[in-house]
Amino acid sequence: MDSTRRSFIRGIASAGASTVAAVALERTGYLDTATALANTAEPSDFSAFRAIAASSADAFEVPEGYAAKVIIGYGDQFANEDGTVLTYGFNNDFLAYFPLNGSDEGLLFINHEYPAPFFQHGVTAAASKTAAQVALEQESVGNSILHVKRGADGAWAVVSPSRYNRRITGAGPVHRFTGPLADNPAYPGIGETAAGSLANCSGGITPWGTALSCEENYQDYIGYGWTAARTGTPDYINGNGSDATTQPAKYGWVVEHDPYDPSFVGRKHTAPGRFRHENTAFRALANKPFVLYMGDDIANGGVYKFVSELPYRPGRREENLRILSSGKLYIAHWDPQSRRTFDAPGGTLTSPTSGTGYWREVAESELVDTNARIAANVGAAEFQLHYATNRPEDVEVDEDGTVYVALTNNSTANDTHGSIRRLREAANDPTSVGQSAQFTWEDYAPGGPSGRADEGEQGFSSPDNLVFDKAGNLWVVTDISSSVLNNPANPNAYHRNNAVFMLPRSGPNAGVAFRFANMPVEAEATGPYFTPDEQTLFINVQHPGEETPNKGGVYGNPQTYTSYWPKGSKTTGQNPSAPIPSLVAITKLPDVEPDPDGDGGTPPPSNVIPAPPTGTPAPGKDGTPARLSFVSAARQNLASLTGGGLDFKLRIDEPATLTVTLYGQLTTRTGRRGKPRRLARVTQRVNVSGDVTVRLRPAATLRVLLRRERVVPATLAVTATDAAGNKATRTKRLSFRRS
Ligand code: FEO
Ligand code: CA
Ligand code: CA
Repeated sequence: MDSTRRSFIRGIASAGASTVAAVALERTGYLDTATALANTAEPSDFSAFRAIAASSADAFEVPEGYAAKVIIGYGDQFANEDGTVLTYGFNNDFLAYFPLNGSDEGLLFINHEYPAPFFQHGVTAAASKTAAQVALEQESVGNSILHVKRGADGAWAVVSPSRYNRRITGAGPVHRFTGPLADNPAYPGIGETAAGSLANCSGGITPWGTALSCEENYQDYIGYGWTAARTGTPDYINGNGSDATTQPAKYGWVVEHDPYDPSFVGRKHTAPGRFRHENTAFRALANKPFVLYMGDDIANGGVYKFVSELPYRPGRREENLRILSSGKLYIAHWDPQSRRTFDAPGGTLTSPTSGTGYWREVAESELVDTNARIAANVGAAEFQLHYATNRPEDVEVDEDGTVYVALTNNSTANDTHGSIRRLREAANDPTSVGQSAQFTWEDYAPGGPSGRADEGEQGFSSPDNLVFDKAGNLWVVTDISSSVLNNPANPNAYHRNNAVFMLPRSGPNAGVAFRFANMPVEAEATGPYFTPDEQTLFINVQHPGEETPNKGGVYGNPQTYTSYWPKGSKTTGQNPSAPIPSLVAITKLPDVEPDPDGDGGTPPPSNVIPAPPTGTPAPGKDGTPARLSFVSAARQNLASLTGGGLDFKLRIDEPATLTVTLYGQLTTRTGRRGKPRRLARVTQRVNVSGDVTVRLRPAATLRVLLRRERVVPATLAVTATDAAGNKATRTKRLSFRRS
């Protein structure tokens, strides 16, 4: 089966419990979760929210009906089982949830990208630092593995002590290199091992239950003064260009960890190259090469894919743990040109928005400094025209195999707002490579002002990490640089603080970005990740108040800091305190009765700063739920469902958010009717009353199963949530027949 990040837990379920690896996974809770998930028919309504307005407040803001709670932040301590005290690192970025007990208890694998000398010890000039100050910085990067649990009150907390709790830092433990450049005499600066990990930006997961941590801006550490004199090793001053062959090249790799196994030795894989690795996203087809998509987060960096030599074998964990050690790397060659270009910053587009392309092989000799060496070999002009892109941040794979790339921005192309591009492999085969196998691409969602009237729909800018929910909505976090954020002279001033958006991909609002959460001052939202039940969205808040040292901040005098989040608020003046990069859990509050006394309803939890009013709510008949009726007939054509999708018409008498789920029974091979299962779901906002058409389209694997059926008994369940939060649910029996 085809398996992506979104579906991989189900993928493990279907691998069967007969292998040692599956038994091991079962012990960890993976398989329990998977089984529970496969049987669940409970729809998630997390994406049914009223979008919030842009804000420049020093607050983490979420829509009404949601709670955002800080779980842990820089400097907080937690402990291992043996009593070792661990300190949560700085600038948390990537995170992934690995279940121990379904969606209520698990391990969070977290990246800590870079230190902040000003907030950590006050000395920003590299030359003035002491060895102890550099050691403090080294301890603050790398990874945290956190055991977390959701309590009876619904709140998440770190479980401490726990045997799973652990830290990986810039100083250790020892990691082992794998692949063609490991322990290769041609690359003496790589060798067999490296101490720790650093510049851990985003990452990914694998279907065999490991985390991949991406080392991004490894070249910055010379600027932090991590010299041999202070650290005892020259390894942090990494070589680039021709130097990379002989000088240390210990960082800048994709690093694999097993969050479940505290004794696992981190593996730095050389086969996927050394560049500003942002993240990884996979496609895994059983018994076929495993494919990893990656972006090089540098202005005019490329988009890459790694194709493994070994096949992916579902359930055979020990074999799969070797997959990233051998294979070939490829870079995308885009036609007619790779970059989105504009006549001026925030100006008119001057480049095509779609095209074709192919995957060019990366030679082994190019791996150690991938971008620079490819550019040198193909020539700068050719690289700029066909390989360079507008700084690829996150890459994610949709369930149907389409690859989405967040191209964040690129001042050299006058691209202020960035875009989300999507790429479809030749014959939808992830292993397609070479000029004879052309992929197609199109710019799917442009950044920039949308021109829409609603305050919550005015458009995203500078997309960074992406995540799909199970309904297929695309969630996008933004990373406008703090240095230009909220600057009235900048074209993205309209955006105010960085934010989290949700883009439905079907229905009349397809492609519209609904603003879901606002970050505090100068922060970027990173690492969005849902629990399997999609009742919690974890977000890391990175670098709040990061402009403080550039704006006259005085170390030790919090009044001068640009953000006080999360312990205070610069906007209200409450509790001047150092800003702290922190992990936040967003949960949907249980439905509450409409607020009878109009005082705003139940008070939010204490650490949530209430969002400002979000403008005029959509007109609704407060107090009464929307009235729903079905317009389309009960008898439907199976070919629509297994083809482009079934368009079903409903009538509704006020604006609402609709969650429409189709449950159906498939015939088993022995001719028995299976239990009802979910066939398709769509969440759609309706802004006017009247008739609305929803398109229901099962996932590709289900469509294949459905094509074998003659008749499918089904039930359509529709929940409408109006602007006042009132819910109405209607169901209708349907039957699908071959025409
Ligand atoms: Fe660390 Fe690509 O952002
Ligand atoms: Ca990023
Ligand atoms: Ca970024």
